[in-house]
Amino acid sequence: MDYESAYRTITRLAQEPNAAQVIVNYLHDHFPAYSWVGLYWVQGSDLVLGEWKGPEATEHTRIAIGTGVCGAAAASGRTEIVGDVSRDSRYLACFSSTKSEIVVPIFADGSVIGEIDIDGSVLNAFGAEDQRFLGRVAAVLAGVRTRTSAARAARR
Ligand code: SME
Repeated sequence: MDYESAYRTITRLAQEPNAAQVIVNYLHDHFPAYSWVGLYWVQGSDLVLGEWKGPEATEHTRIAIGTGVCGAAAASGRTEIVGDVSRDSRYLACFSSTKSEIVVPIFADGSVIGEIDIDGSVLNAFGAEDQRFLGRVAAVLAGVRTRTSAARAARR
């Protein structure tokens, strides 16, 4: 997978209506290792599931910050890469097919406003290149999110 051309495509998709969902779909459909892709958004002290694409819905639609791999990344503001979820006691199971996971925080004005959560169906599906690439995608999503929340506020 060519991360650079994928990143360029994503910056273009960010202009579309419903951009967050379109970007999630693109990540899921173009990266074979990205088996389930979801965005969680911070609401108070929780992460709430927003846009996602994958073979099944997750039961974890609300996760307290600090709980699970997702909650750990939101609490620390650091990317979590879990090569083998069966060996990480923080892991909240969603799908029996998941073997590895990456969670990348989304920042706006220095605070975590959400995160990208990706499950892989092989061990060690995610590496440093995914981390770098998804960090850039997270910055694009921060822009999308702040733009759409501002538009929503203006309509009220
Ligand atoms: N596995 C995550 C929960 C979210 S599901 O993977 C979609 C966790 O441990 O926080």
